[in-house]
Amino acid sequence: MATQETLSREAVLDALRGVALPDGGDLVSRDLVRALAVAGGAVRFVIETDSPEAAKALAPVRARAEAAVAALDGVSQVSVALTAHGPPPSLGKGGGKGGAPAMKIGRHPTAGPNAVPGVRRIIAIGSGKGGVGKSTVSANLAVALAREGWRVGLLDADIYGPSQPRMMGVTKRPSSPDGKEIIPPVAHGVTMISIGLLLREEDEAVIWRGPMLMGALQQLLTQVRWGELDALLVDMPPGTGDIQLTLCQKFDLAGAIVVSTPQDVALLDARKALKAFGTLKTPVLGLIENMSTFICPKCGHEEHIFGEGGVKREAKRLGLPFLGELPLAVEVRLAGDGGVPVAATDSPVADAYRRMARRLIETCD
Ligand SMILES: Nc1ncnc2c1ncn2[C@@H]1O[C@H](COP(=O)(O)OP(=O)(O)OP(=O)(O)O)[C@@H](O)[C@H]1O
Ligand SMILES: [Mg+2]
Repeated sequence: MATQETLSREAVLDALRGVALPDGGDLVSRDLVRALAVAGGAVRFVIETDSPEAAKALAPVRARAEAAVAALDGVSQVSVALTAHGPPPSLGKGGGKGGAPAMKIGRHPTAGPNAVPGVRRIIAIGSGKGGVGKSTVSANLAVALAREGWRVGLLDADIYGPSQPRMMGVTKRPSSPDGKEIIPPVAHGVTMISIGLLLREEDEAVIWRGPMLMGALQQLLTQVRWGELDALLVDMPPGTGDIQLTLCQKFDLAGAIVVSTPQDVALLDARKALKAFGTLKTPVLGLIENMSTFICPKCGHEEHIFGEGGVKREAKRLGLPFLGELPLAVEVRLAGDGGVPVAATDSPVADAYRRMARRLIETCD
């Protein structure tokens, strides 16, 4: 059995060299692989083509690439996106029978910071590093805030790897009676939307980049019937890229929350995220430490496996609110995978989220 250290970018690229293209060559020799990221056992990359038609034709290649990487020792998760440079087809055709609305991907956001009608605060949840638990924290904090009486929305802005449908247990495609406005589902007291719910099955592999992504984000914010909300939490993709830029520059944000694990390396990335929010003049509402301690499911023993108090110290150093710490607990992952966030249950972790929600409400009031 290979260890995670043996899973290198080179091993992934080698596997992709074995994936032939219908018109000759392979994914690597034809230079179609972009944004390859290997983090532990999780592998993400993009196959970039020059037109939506080419992207569609490569759908079987994408499936073979995914299978080839998944077969490598040490790989636990593979996420492959197929992108096109050119204007893509619209997402859906006005919905059809109960289908999702058309999304005119490709439209540029309009200039100037926009408010979303009825939404009192937009709060971005980010981190510099991938996999530190942004989506888990977003889903649970949204549920905890709803349990505290806030009217809450949750927008999954991770276009490459949407996770909220799974975490919130929503699979049904939203409806749109007029083909424009999107009626969002409500799960565990939270109104939510994810691009994962709007893509047609055959489009699932096709991801749009740059201005097209930004258009998609803007549409999710403005075409969804959010109703009256005290807060709309936005689960950001990892890193400090286009989505963060668009959200902060084009929308009037109440602020951002940065999630980090206590490890030095995650903290370094969190500092990058904080710096980026600072440059974009988005106030930071607080820091959250995820995976602070490991709680042994067998004996209940609690251990600071990644070091103690790192994020709290960082918050103090920067004069920012520290919203709380969350343990690394198997029930959190199982709850996320099962579609019922742990904050919707009665448990010590749900209590931690409740305290965090109260602190955030105090910070905002
Ligand atoms: N406190 C926790 N205890 C146990 N598992 C956790 C905890 N927080 C997150 N996880 C698990 O870790 C994995 C990564 O979490 P998550 O998807 O929330 O991270 P992310 O920062 O949103 O990742 P990405 O950068 O890919 O968007 C998931 O399987 C999740 O269930
Ligand atoms: Mg995520």
